[in-house]
Amino acid sequence: MKIYLIGMMGSGKSTVGKLLSERLKIKFVDLDSIIEDKTHKTVAEIFEQNGENHFRELESNILEKSKGVEGVVACGGGIILDEKNRHILKSSGEIIFLKSSVSELVKRLHSADDRPLLADKQIEKELDIIWSARKILYEQTAHLIISVDGRTPKEITELILDQLY
Ligand code: S3P
Repeated sequence: MKIYLIGMMGSGKSTVGKLLSERLKIKFVDLDSIIEDKTHKTVAEIFEQNGENHFRELESNILEKSKGVEGVVACGGGIILDEKNRHILKSSGEIIFLKSSVSELVKRLHSADDRPLLADKQIEKELDIIWSARKILYEQTAHLIISVDGRTPKEITELILDQLY
């Protein structure tokens, strides 16, 4: 079984992904963490030293390589920007979109140090811009949409399990 979690930064993909993998007794994989392990750099350092385009290439390569992995895969928020990535997602597993309002994301992302797209920006304004550009892509790519506002990671996990089976 393969489940991809997609959604904006701060929507809870990694936390929910871990809980979900424990419940399903399958592996948990975080694409950003794999990139960090392989490059020995943080995502923020890659953005700063090599630029966003380079990060996107690494992200696509890792997604391609993880196609055959069985487990829950937490994807970086921007995975859906690339059409080829969307195709890989759709053809390799069940895609769950953790949908959050921007105001909820702002609450969760009070420190954006590890989110280079938000660094030195007004967080709410920037998230609004990113959300407007991506909303449709998340919705069109997902097989299942789960609203996360006001829900704990455990509640979100149970909701996913209810809807999956
Ligand atoms: C990004 C989200 C981040 C990370 C990178 C870019 C994005 O992952 O991949 O900073 O474009 O939304 P998270 O969604 O896990 O924060």
